[in-house]
Amino acid sequence: MARSMLSILVLGLLARRASAQCCATAAMLRFSCSQLVIERLDPLVSPGVIGSPHNHQIVGGNSFNASMPPVEYDPSKESTCTTCTFSEDFSNYWTANLYFRARNGSFKRVPQMVNLGLEGNGGITVYYIPPYDGKTKVTAFKPGFRMLVGDAMLRTATGMCGGGIRTTITFPTCWDGQNLDSPDHKSHVAYPSTGSFETTGPCPASHPVRLPQLIMGDPTGYGQHGDYVFGWKGDALQRAMDQRCTGTTCPGLGTQSAAQATACTKEQTVKEDVDGWLDTLPGNAPITY
Ligand SMILES: *[C@@H]1O[C@H](CO)[C@@H](O)[C@H](O)[C@H]1NC(C)=O
Ligand SMILES: *[C@@H]1O[C@H](CO)[C@@H](O)[C@H](O)[C@H]1NC(C)=O
Repeated sequence: MARSMLSILVLGLLARRASAQCCATAAMLRFSCSQLVIERLDPLVSPGVIGSPHNHQIVGGNSFNASMPPVEYDPSKESTCTTCTFSEDFSNYWTANLYFRARNGSFKRVPQMVNLGLEGNGGITVYYIPPYDGKTKVTAFKPGFRMLVGDAMLRTATGMCGGGIRTTITFPTCWDGQNLDSPDHKSHVAYPSTGSFETTGPCPASHPVRLPQLIMGDPTGYGQHGDYVFGWKGDALQRAMDQRCTGTTCPGLGTQSAAQATACTKEQTVKEDVDGWLDTLPGNAPITY
């Protein structure tokens, strides 16, 4: 059973690759952002709160802070280093942590691992994808832009894969062109009105500006969610999308080694044990089903 499922998956991948080759080169930035800090802060959902309800793994620029007000706060100006391979990407990306609960009731954080073929310390794999047709333009995010996808309260398998613990967080790709944020951190962006990003589906009239497809991958459960605060320096991301760069190779864009990326770290603001056995989840977060 397992073997036949695996071969179906492999065939699916081959079919996808073949169809991508037929029509266009599927260009995409794909790179690693190592762990910056494990921390109970959430500048989007709980701005200014020292000790958000649950903890996160944060990656990216080291100016990550409990409060990062839009417009005034540009991570590319506040940060002195980043954990991302692209050395001009000072954005912050964060996701909730997965905990293992032992039979005796104690909890332990499941460590994040760097993706196959990439180097770093934990963290996540980040993708920025321009339309697969090889020509449609996207508008890179603006300084101060942020968004959230997912729902920490979700407890069912709606729209998610039931087979394992790797998730892919796929952000919306259409923007209203005006607001860098919205009260729920979601309404200023939207998914294509028909079709999908992959099929170059049109953006709804309310959100006409086509954004790069931002994807983050890491292991977790249904309540997983991803937060993003844009922080690329200048127009580096726009240039990468316009040039249809792939992987970590992009003329004119700076990169750094895994050693340099992992040297960028940040001290916890909320001092908490992140690796040991715990009697309760950090912040005494309730377990709900
Ligand atoms: C957060 O950022 C602001 C503005 O840069 C700074 O004044 C403040 O000290 C920072 N707070 C922490 C806890 O780093
Ligand atoms: C549960 O098991 C772990 C691993 O053996 C141990 O470190 C922890 O102290 C135990 N917790 C309790 C409450 O006994």
